[in-house]
Amino acid sequence: MVNDFIKYEAPILTAEEMLEKSRSFFFNMNQRRSIREFSEKPVSKEVIENIIKTASTSPSGAHKQPWTFCIITNPTIKKQIRIAAEKEEKESYDHRMSDEWLRDLEKFATNWQKPFIETAPYIIVIFKKIYDVEEDGTKHTNYYVQESVGIAAGMLITAIHQAGLVTLTHTPSPMNFLNKILDRPANEKPFLLLPVGFPADDARVPDIERKKLDKISVWY
Ligand SMILES: Cc1cc2nc3c(=O)[nH]c(=O)nc-3n(C[C@H](O)[C@H](O)[C@H](O)COP(=O)(O)O)c2cc1C
Repeated sequence: MVNDFIKYEAPILTAEEMLEKSRSFFFNMNQRRSIREFSEKPVSKEVIENIIKTASTSPSGAHKQPWTFCIITNPTIKKQIRIAAEKEEKESYDHRMSDEWLRDLEKFATNWQKPFIETAPYIIVIFKKIYDVEEDGTKHTNYYVQESVGIAAGMLITAIHQAGLVTLTHTPSPMNFLNKILDRPANEKPFLLLPVGFPADDARVPDIERKKLDKISVWY
């Protein structure tokens, strides 16, 4: 089937506007940090919906949009997720992580405890859809699922920051407990868990630096 095509309306910027926009966007994004201490202050549902809609503008392999965003506000479900996540995290910190990994994490002062799962007003769990299933059970392949969902997650994190909110890219591993708690089907696999909200008044972040441009880019 061949789709119709429509004209692409490019945003038109002068060279100066382009420079200024790219500069101010970098300045803003450079202030983004992963936050591990959250306030209970509420956030409007519409803001969260706009953030999810922004993530859904992500490109994806063959436009399959292989993602489901689960948004959790229910305190009972949050508690279940926290208990299950902490169980896996305790096992990881006590037995599964290598000495090198634990040393690399020292500067973050993290441990198996994850109180933010209950404190943050929203938990967003992104599921990647390994394949699609029609109502009659027919399965369809998705392509470049990892790349597609990774890009959507990046856009989600960007939108959260742009809205003046904070998040943490959290990966309690393994995460399959999330399928059970959230009753997700077998074609969906948990990708990331992101608490979303305002930072706690006294939230602190590790004093770390980002690699400079000449260390991350090669020009030809
Ligand atoms: C894929 C991925 C998984 C992460 N998992 C965790 C996690 O489970 N727990 C945590 O505290 N931070 C986690 N982080 C956050 C990183 O530690 C953080 O992004 C990094 O230290 C840079 O800090 P910044 O985000 O404040 O710039 C993760 C980040 C990424 C991209």
